[in-house]
Amino acid sequence: MLVLGIESSCDETAAAVIEDGNKILSSVISSQIELHKPFGGVVPELAAREHLEKIDPIVDEALQQAQVSLKDIDAIAVTQGPGLIGSLLVGVCYAKALAFGLDIPFVGVNHIEGHIFSVAFENPPIQFPAFALIVSGGHTNLFFVPEAGKYKVISRTRDDAAGEAFDKVAKMLGLEYPGGPIIEKLALEGDASKIKFPIAKISDGRPDFSFSGLKTAVSRYVRDNAIEKVVEDETPSQEIKDIAASFQATVVKSLMKNVEKLAAEFQPKTLIVAGGVACNNALREASESVGKRLNIPVYFPSKHLSTDNAAMIAAAGYFHLQRGEQSDLRMTADVSMRLQNFENEDAQLKSKKVRYRL
Ligand code: KG4
Ligand code: ZN
Repeated sequence: MLVLGIESSCDETAAAVIEDGNKILSSVISSQIELHKPFGGVVPELAAREHLEKIDPIVDEALQQAQVSLKDIDAIAVTQGPGLIGSLLVGVCYAKALAFGLDIPFVGVNHIEGHIFSVAFENPPIQFPAFALIVSGGHTNLFFVPEAGKYKVISRTRDDAAGEAFDKVAKMLGLEYPGGPIIEKLALEGDASKIKFPIAKISDGRPDFSFSGLKTAVSRYVRDNAIEKVVEDETPSQEIKDIAASFQATVVKSLMKNVEKLAAEFQPKTLIVAGGVACNNALREASESVGKRLNIPVYFPSKHLSTDNAAMIAAAGYFHLQRGEQSDLRMTADVSMRLQNFENEDAQLKSKKVRYRL
């Protein structure tokens, strides 16, 4: 079965053709990084216009690279949300029109569920129950996944997403957008033990994440120590590298702290780490260490599948289509779409109802 995946939730226009849920025939991504760079972040209006220009040629390229034509496609999966409304609408309207024209099924996919399915291509089958830590520019959530397709958020960020914190701290230091890869590179030459940044404690005691206090702590450190921002083409100072390393180490530590704490309670058999920040090697190494301590395997997507792509959307879509779940033409973009359809086992056993928000 061939599924055409379409992703346009933020600043990547992507299309992919996958076969039987786990074989990538093509995965084409058009990044808007250069377009948004001068603004230090994604400008929603520009993003939507760019998606509109790119979506048709990107889908064509995905079909060409897969050496198939539209009539070979069995179904379409498209990101329904969460994301930027203008960006999402481009993909959703395009997918609906295409599916209607071709008279084939289509399904709206939760972008975060897509990130979870990004590990489906290059790893052994997931052992359930699993943990899925999704860390990206827009999201930072730890999901308990008792079985395929069921999700319960057990830890979430109260403010900024981890990737957003990387991007904002980078901006503070005069570094380019997106900040994650640049901070990671500088951190390699920095001393992570140089500065003690705080790990947020949530006042109501819930095991959630928070990165806004860390961002403020970096900003205060920069101000109090009169750290000079990096100027274009100049080599960053050792101080900047130490800040990058110390900041990165604090983010990684705070993510891992909750994973480890909650693992004792939920006893997962696999740890999935995905989303743009999963490109980060410090996070990968720390996750591997946690996996070793818990004696469970850790699955990452390869780096090109960690950031936004359409192959992961097609894989999640395939999963739903196989279960007979598909969307109809009333489906529309959902900017704040949630991924939580499992409250707790007892309640579920009693009601035998699983809510899907697709
Ligand atoms: O998943 P993604 O492509 O888009 C969203 O759904 O948000 O993630 C993009 C985010 C950006 O915030 C970027 O700075 C971060 O992922 N990122 C990284 C690295 N590569 C990308 N963060 C830390 N280290 C990296 N190597
Ligand atoms: Zn994403």
